[in-house]
Amino acid sequence: MKSALVIGIADGFGLHTATALLATGWRVRALMREPDALPACLRGIDVCAGSSASIDDVRHAAAGVDVIVFGANPPHPRWHAQAVPALDTAAAVAETLGLTLVFPANQQVYDPEDGSVFDESARLHPVSRNGSIQQRMESRLRLASRRGARVIVLRTGDFIGAHSGSGWSEALIRPVLRGYRLLHPGPAVHIHTWANLPDVARTASCLLARRDELPDFAEFQFSGYRISFWQLAEAVSQASGKAVELRPFPKRRLNPLSARIPLARELKEMGYLWEYEIHLKDDRLRATLNQVPHTPLPEALTVAGLVAGTGERNLHWSYVQTA
Ligand SMILES: NC(=O)c1ccc[n+]([C@@H]2O[C@H](COP(=O)([O-])OP(=O)(O)OC[C@H]3O[C@@H](n4cnc5c(N)ncnc54)[C@H](OP(=O)(O)O)[C@@H]3O)[C@@H](O)[C@H]2O)c1
Repeated sequence: MKSALVIGIADGFGLHTATALLATGWRVRALMREPDALPACLRGIDVCAGSSASIDDVRHAAAGVDVIVFGANPPHPRWHAQAVPALDTAAAVAETLGLTLVFPANQQVYDPEDGSVFDESARLHPVSRNGSIQQRMESRLRLASRRGARVIVLRTGDFIGAHSGSGWSEALIRPVLRGYRLLHPGPAVHIHTWANLPDVARTASCLLARRDELPDFAEFQFSGYRISFWQLAEAVSQASGKAVELRPFPKRRLNPLSARIPLARELKEMGYLWEYEIHLKDDRLRATLNQVPHTPLPEALTVAGLVAGTGERNLHWSYVQTA
């Protein structure tokens, strides 16, 4: 049986990819700082207690696995200091054990001055500190692929999904008395790129199943949903059957407090992503997989628990259906 070590399994990409791998017959092991935080839907998997920053912990947890799913994401106040060292540790272990490492990349490496359409060979030219760190992480992975590891980078837009961790969707879609409120951090007509986490996780699982056919450093992009806030509001309304009011994200009120509010600080640094479109072309992914997983947006919002229902229950549904 194929087996995967998932680092950063408590939510987000790690949680969803672990669930998608289990649904397709993989054995999954987790490396967790707090094993008690293992989500209920993963109960019964192997859990190693330890830190992604410790090479001994990662090496011990990776013994006997085929792949490492790297989903660890230190919170924003600590991201600058911890993101690269955590990935460096996993990359070093993948090198020495000759493992495949899958990494969820973001769109912060692109410069909107370069246009709005980016294919897999577009130049990486980050315009923010976060973006420069992301670029360093990807460079580290490229190096790992020359030193014995195999690497799959899957670049996506902002996550939509139950337990989407650092994703924006939960912060922007809110139930109110008569329906829903959708906050838009940029102009309501801005076309933003979103990615349904269950679809991303299934895509990662499909790529891992074909890892032997891929180059040592395989870079893919996932187009996801490219929609304005008007279209997102329409999808929320369709999914819930309720009215949706669009409101500007209250940036001004948050700015004075931004040093203490991670979302506001991130918005200050990454605000351009809500003004300029980043279209991630996915030709390579389409040429590699027979079919790229895609859920209609209203269904994705419901399964995510963003409109009606709860995320925990829906997380089970989304994978049980495909198992
Ligand atoms: N969120 C998005 O919209 C989005 C979009 C595109 C790409 N990405 C990329 O996807 C990756 C994962 O993001 P995510 O949103 O899925 O992450 P997340 O949900 O915010 O966090 C994932 C996991 O990271 C672990 N973690 C938290 N603090 C940590 C720390 N200090 N040190 C080590 N691990 C820590 C936790 O797992 P344990 O408790 O099990 O350790 C947590 O469950 C990131 O590299 C991000 O750039 C995210």
